[in-house]
Amino acid sequence: MTLFYSLIRPLLFRLDAERAHDLTAKALRVTSRAPLLPRLIRALYAWEDPILAVDWSGLHFANPVGVAAGFDKCADLVDGLAVLGFGHIEAGTVTPRPQPGNPRPRLFRLPEDAALINRLGFNSPGMVAVARALRARRSRDVIVGVNIGKNRDTPLERAVEDYVATFVALAPLADYVAVNISSPNTPGLRRLHERAALETLLRELTRLNRALPHPRPIALKVSPDETPDQLEAVVRAGCDAGIAAFIATNTTLARDGLHSRLAIETGGLSGRPLTQHTRQVIGAIYRMTHGTPPVIGVGGIVTAEDAYQHIRAGARLIQIYTGMVYAGPAIARDIKQGLARRLRRDGFTSLEEAVGVMVAA
Ligand SMILES: Cc1cc2nc3c(=O)[nH]c(=O)nc-3n(C[C@H](O)[C@H](O)[C@H](O)COP(=O)(O)O)c2cc1C
Repeated sequence: MTLFYSLIRPLLFRLDAERAHDLTAKALRVTSRAPLLPRLIRALYAWEDPILAVDWSGLHFANPVGVAAGFDKCADLVDGLAVLGFGHIEAGTVTPRPQPGNPRPRLFRLPEDAALINRLGFNSPGMVAVARALRARRSRDVIVGVNIGKNRDTPLERAVEDYVATFVALAPLADYVAVNISSPNTPGLRRLHERAALETLLRELTRLNRALPHPRPIALKVSPDETPDQLEAVVRAGCDAGIAAFIATNTTLARDGLHSRLAIETGGLSGRPLTQHTRQVIGAIYRMTHGTPPVIGVGGIVTAEDAYQHIRAGARLIQIYTGMVYAGPAIARDIKQGLARRLRRDGFTSLEEAVGVMVAA
């Protein structure tokens, strides 16, 4: 952690967690528009090493470290996050119509567990506002994905219509699309993991995608709470539909071994308690796919070692949310430096060589 964040963090942690997030977002927006500041921040935080470059579905990532969905719901923080050295940013989840999400408080810090619990429930400005923000972004050197979902009041039987609407509106403005069927905070959403519903959804989206002048890679974001059989069925459906990646994982409903008094809050748990669990899911998917399509690993990454072990378990790219809250804005740089060191130490000449080595043997 930088000296800067070790001073700021206690102040932020005194605030309600969502208020602290809103302030951080505001700071990112303001600094990205100020003259010279972005260049200064980039000089402090950006650090690249060719050993970390990753290619996926025609996209070139300068490094594998991305911002997970949920941090930038509106796609208006892309410029601010880009200067911190992330290789990609997944905006969203975006719903077709604007919706406020659940009542506050709905985001909780669990410092004793280096975790968060959230039940935001897809607070989204809606796809029209997000399309505007995507068009307005200035950074063109960072990969931007858009994560799509359904409105809370859309019945599950009509969920496909919501995904289709957001896909049509946003896919042409993003580098890739993530299909979120795994948030625990929208009632019934995880039922889209069921084979028939998933096949219908993916068939429809891949059909629309093929009709685009430039089809986008479509990634499917999965829950960590599926049984091995359910996960296998989801992976099979995803592969059959020709999706380009699995994103593993979303937050969990499990509450094992937590110490914080806020562990009783309803919602999805993220951060340190998810690390091992997510890694097992990454490994399980990699074992089934042998890396084609690749896995984007997200869950419980706070240090470079966490990221490295996710990669060794099968992740080609990684993403972070909760780790940023605990480790601060230098997290992308610190993870990249630690990853490059570990790759060289272990005799790899590229990150891609290390993907899945724990599983492949
Ligand atoms: C406050 C918060 C909001 C989130 N919102 C979304 C979301 O809108 N869509 C989504 O797919 N995942 C969302 N997530 C899940 C993250 O993208 C990620 O999958 C999960 O938090 C595990 O990663 P982490 O341990 O690095 O936080 C959210 C997570 C948090 C903590």
